[in-house]
Amino acid sequence: MCGIVGAVAERPIIEILIEGLKRLEYRGYDSAGVVVLDQQGNTSCTKREGKVGVLAKAVKEQSPQGTTGIAHTRWATHGVPSERNAHPHQSGNRFSVVHNGIIENHKELRKSLSVDGYTFISDTDTEVIVHLIHKLSAVYPDLRSAVFAANQQLVGAYGMAVVDSQSLGQLVVARSGSPLVIGYGLGEHFVASDQLALLPVTRRFAVLEEGDVAQITKESVSIIDASGEPVSRPIEESDITADAGGKAGYKHYMLKEIFEQPEAIRRTLQGRIVDGKVAEDAFGNGSLELFEAIKHVQIVACGTSYNAGMVARYWIEQYVGISCSVEIASEFRYRESFVHKDSLLVTLSQSGETADTLAALRLAKSLGYSASLTICNVETSSLVRESDLVYLMKAGPEIGVASTKAFTVQLAALLLLSKALCEAKAINQEFCTDAAEALNALPTHMEQAFSLEQSVKVLSEQFADKHHALFLGRGDLYPVAMEGALKLKEISYIHAEAYAAGELKHGPLALVDADMPVVVVAPSNDLLDKLKSNIEEVRARGSVMYVFADSDDQFEPGPGLDVVNMAHASHLIAPILFSIPLQFLSYYVALVKGTDVDQPRNLAKSVTVE
Ligand code: G6P
Repeated sequence: MCGIVGAVAERPIIEILIEGLKRLEYRGYDSAGVVVLDQQGNTSCTKREGKVGVLAKAVKEQSPQGTTGIAHTRWATHGVPSERNAHPHQSGNRFSVVHNGIIENHKELRKSLSVDGYTFISDTDTEVIVHLIHKLSAVYPDLRSAVFAANQQLVGAYGMAVVDSQSLGQLVVARSGSPLVIGYGLGEHFVASDQLALLPVTRRFAVLEEGDVAQITKESVSIIDASGEPVSRPIEESDITADAGGKAGYKHYMLKEIFEQPEAIRRTLQGRIVDGKVAEDAFGNGSLELFEAIKHVQIVACGTSYNAGMVARYWIEQYVGISCSVEIASEFRYRESFVHKDSLLVTLSQSGETADTLAALRLAKSLGYSASLTICNVETSSLVRESDLVYLMKAGPEIGVASTKAFTVQLAALLLLSKALCEAKAINQEFCTDAAEALNALPTHMEQAFSLEQSVKVLSEQFADKHHALFLGRGDLYPVAMEGALKLKEISYIHAEAYAAGELKHGPLALVDADMPVVVVAPSNDLLDKLKSNIEEVRARGSVMYVFADSDDQFEPGPGLDVVNMAHASHLIAPILFSIPLQFLSYYVALVKGTDVDQPRNLAKSVTVE
């Protein structure tokens, strides 16, 4: 999604802005632009379609010396990806704006601003902001006041940064629905939509609250809240290291993040299981008393996080014995759903900023849930700030657009949640003991699963010329098949679908032939014999199958049936372990196909618009 970086300093800031944009590339974008102002108010604006590298080359040739500036990566919503639609957008040779989010009343504003004589040169919703600020500056000569006044007329979600060649040495930023942080340096200040962008220049950050508008100079930061009152926001030291965004010698972030999983799980579980029991504050203070009374769990999430929620449904219903529903956030937020008595709302999100998930949480607050819990990877995110209870994942920054470590860490957290619910209700001691043992052993099992990399790499070559693939699983491995299919789609652009294996004969079997590889996740569990019958049904139709199986089950390979054996482990963590070969599979298929693994076309890491 779109990214914002801004800086105001004594020194030229173009390199800081470009480096910031590069560090935001992982979010997904299609064009980029930058504007810098020097101390005389000379403005230099450059925009390019495509990668930040193309923009960087263009600005290098111009080498602008500005000390105040804003920059942007755009992920097209209104208007095609092009130089014309790239940000910054400008008005009257004075004002420049970069914007994340969507202005919903842009058509009305465009009409009235056109009547006022403003000429639009782009197809974007953003351009109305810059002309509106320009218009209001006649009444509010102070830039922050003009931006504050403009906010009163904008409907939608936005984070924006504004500069004015007649308000030298200042940036104004506003947050309403799309995150922004201010970075504090020595005699210089910065702004970004994600603190990762600024880690090379500062580690001290303040997170703006909804409705805040801030005026930033190199010496000072002055913030007003949504009601126009001066406020201060706490400045905190980030514990993310500047090279957290680096590839550490791996070819892609995705591969690095696959290998980071055991460590991410260790960190996430550290201190959260004490003497075999879930620590009292693992899910937030007071969570255990609350869990005791919970009779239903409603999980809401998007994308990979939704697939993690689907696994949890099996666990919560089987082991806790209470009902659990899982819904895609964009559906949940727009329908009238039934709220069970004593129901806990759980949001799952890597970023904590996914617009639909956040909107679902906000909606749920008015629906009578007992409490909201978020399982989230970003401490400063909106979901963390707005939920009653928080389980902070410690996966570390995830840069690859296709989520890997966030998924398995979410699963570990959800297994822990099932255990915490059981403990709070004083039920199912056997599961509680087994889950503690399985979770403690999990990182080591994950490391063992990495030994499959080479065999999966070899078989991935057989997918390169395929256009479709099926993924099959049963029980809590069905959502793992869903996640495997999603990964393959996302980064190799092969159409892949997942089916609960028992459903195959109700339609998809018609598609099966030698050109449709079928991937099966087959751990050792009660459903294995049923799954074996499903495999035979597919095999009889001449398909080529790849079965990931538990080595203890001695699955027989044969014509049309490749078997990759996984070391035996507790069935409780099978969904986590069987995810690993599927991650390798999508990664190596993408590599063979030569697609952009870390930044697949059209996709974004953090989807902050609807
Ligand atoms: C985007 C990403 C996915 C992610 C989904 C939900 O689509 O590309 O990888 O699963 O958003 O994101 P969240 O941050 O809420 O987990």
